Amino acid sequence: MTTLFDPITIGSIEAKNRIVLAPITRSKATSEGVPTDSMAMYYRQRASVGLIASEATSISLDSHCLPNSPGIWSSEHVQGWKKVTSAVHEVGGKIVCQLWHPGRAAHSAFNGVHPISASETKFNGHINTPSGEKEPELARPASEEDITRIVEEFKQGAENAMAAGFDGVQVHCANGYLIGQFMCSNSNLRTDRYGGNVENRLRFFKEVVSVVSNTVGPSRTGVRFSPDIDPVDEETFVAASSFLEEQRIAFIGLRENSPLGPLIPPTVSYKNRLDLHDPIRNVYKGALIMNRDYTLEMAMEAIQTAIADAVSVGRPAMASRHLVAKMQATRPIRHFSDSVKYWYHEPEGYVVLPDLVPEVSA
Ligand SMILES: Cc1cc2nc3c(=O)[nH]c(=O)nc-3n(C[C@H](O)[C@H](O)[C@H](O)COP(=O)(O)O)c2cc1C
Repeated sequence: MTTLFDPITIGSIEAKNRIVLAPITRSKATSEGVPTDSMAMYYRQRASVGLIASEATSISLDSHCLPNSPGIWSSEHVQGWKKVTSAVHEVGGKIVCQLWHPGRAAHSAFNGVHPISASETKFNGHINTPSGEKEPELARPASEEDITRIVEEFKQGAENAMAAGFDGVQVHCANGYLIGQFMCSNSNLRTDRYGGNVENRLRFFKEVVSVVSNTVGPSRTGVRFSPDIDPVDEETFVAASSFLEEQRIAFIGLRENSPLGPLIPPTVSYKNRLDLHDPIRNVYKGALIMNRDYTLEMAMEAIQTAIADAVSVGRPAMASRHLVAKMQATRPIRHFSDSVKYWYHEPEGYVVLPDLVPEVSA
C-alpha cells in the first residue's frame, strides 16, 4: 500500500515523499522583492518534504503588491532565488516557483500603476501597502494588449524561474487573484472573447498555462486552484482540469473545504462550496496535491485511499522545521492559530522558531 512517505514522480520531478510544503507568503524579501539569505535558510530548513511550492512570486513590477513579497522579473530576483534553490538542492529537496499576478488585489500605492482585472470590479478587503493599509481601488479592465503583455510576463517569469534553478513552476490560479478573476463569472463581466461562457472565461487561464508549459515543459508545470474560497463554478473547474490533462500538466494543487470552516472570510456562502477532487480526478490523471487542515491521520488516509497523490501542508510547516520527521514519528502536527502574526517581518517565527510546538530531533 502506498504511504505518505513513499516517493512520487510528479511529471519530471522526483519527490522523496508525498508531503508538499504549501505556498506560504512570508514577506521576507527586500522591498524590491529580492529573496534574502534568511529565505534560503527557511526553505532549506523545510526541504525534507518531497516538494516545496514557493510563496506567491510576482511576475512583474505591476504585479508586486505585498510588502517584502518576492519577485521573479529581474536578474536581481534570479540571483536571489538561486541562493534559495541551491540551499534546497544541497539537502536533497525540490522546489517549484509559484508564479503570481494579483490583478485587482494590487494597489497604485506600490508603484503608481493602477490595478488591473478582468472587469471594473474591486478587491474584497483591505490591501497592505508600503504606506499602510489601503482601501482597494476600482480595477481597470484589461485590454487585449494588456492580456498579451501579462501572458508574456508569465512566460518571462517561467524562464527566469528555470534560470534561478527551480525544478518547475506552479501557476497561481487560486485565492481570487488575476487568473481566478477571469475564471469567475462574479468578477468577469466581459462581453468579448475573454468573458461570458466557460470557454471564454478560461481563455486567459489557457493562454497563461500554455505559454508557461511551452517554456518550462508540461512535466515541470503545475497549477493551484482553491474552490474553497473562489466562487468559480464546478463546470469551469472541471473544464480547466480537462485542459490540464490534454496539455499533460504535471500537477494540480487543490485546496478544498474543511470541517474547520473558512480559511479566510469567503466571498460567497461557505456552505455552497463543493469538494471537487472527484470530478477533477475523473478528467485529470496527473498528480493531485490536496490541501487544507490536513492532520497526519487525514494525510495518511488520503494517500492510502488514493484521494490524493500528495498532500500539501501550510501552517504546520510555518511552525516546524522538522515536519516530516515529526510525521514519521507519528507526532501530531499543529497549526499556528495566529499564523498571520508570523507572516511579516519578525525574524522570530520564521527561521528562529519560538518553542510553541515541541520539535523532534532530525
Ligand atoms: C500566512 C499564509 C500565507 C499564505 N500564502 C499563500 C501563497 O502565497 N500562495 C498560495 O497559493 N496560498 C497561500 N496560502 C494558503 C496556504 O498555501 C494553504 O492553502 C493554507 O494555509 C491551508 O493549508 P494548511 O491547513 O495546511 O495550513 C497562505 C496561507 C497562510 C496562512
